[in-house]
Amino acid sequence: MKVYPSLLAANFLNLQRDIERLNQSAVDGLHYDVMDGQFVPNLSMGPFILKQIDAAFDLFLDVHLMIEHPDRYISDYANAGADRLTVHAEACTHLHRVIQQIKSHHMEVGIALNPATPINSILPVIKDIDCVLIMTVNPGFGGQSFIHSMLEKIDELNQFRAHHDLSFVIEVDGGINDETSRLCHQYGVDEVVSGSYLLASDDMTDTVKRLSND
Ligand code: DX5
Ligand code: ZN
Repeated sequence: MKVYPSLLAANFLNLQRDIERLNQSAVDGLHYDVMDGQFVPNLSMGPFILKQIDAAFDLFLDVHLMIEHPDRYISDYANAGADRLTVHAEACTHLHRVIQQIKSHHMEVGIALNPATPINSILPVIKDIDCVLIMTVNPGFGGQSFIHSMLEKIDELNQFRAHHDLSFVIEVDGGINDETSRLCHQYGVDEVVSGSYLLASDDMTDTVKRLSND
């Protein structure tokens, strides 16, 4: 599996140092969490910091928008260097249009689903997207516990993908550690996000290798 560290768990007074350490640890990119204090009860960072990261590092930038009306910011994140832009299905009244807008800016498209949102809410557009992000915690904060009942949802999505011969990737976010990444791998996940667990580890290269289950 690919491994993306969540920058939310980085030390923001030493952001460059932390990204350099991650870059040397064979991560597959960076997961960048954007929160607006509306869609989720927390605030984080915006396109300004992303642009500086993009200028300084050659890493895949996996941007996770936990914001209302994400359509207003698509061009900002494209200009800031996002490689994949993931929006929440729950935050988009016109999800099909938002997907087309992201594609028109030449970014990969991800759709995130909160734990309580069923897969069938995105089936009409699933052929149009590159990634489904299954939230394994309720979004808004790092350091929460993995919700094990999400494994059934992942299984359902993986079976749907195989049955219809589709190629979107399945990503998970929230509460990922050695044990939960192994379970996700067994259930067909392609990409894991890890914040607090990975950033707190002493030997990041070793932790990335374990989380990847390769
Ligand atoms: C949660 C964020 C996650 C979070 C993951 O709202 O979307 O990306 O930073 O952090 P951990 O791995 O600590 O659960
Ligand atoms: Zn995230």
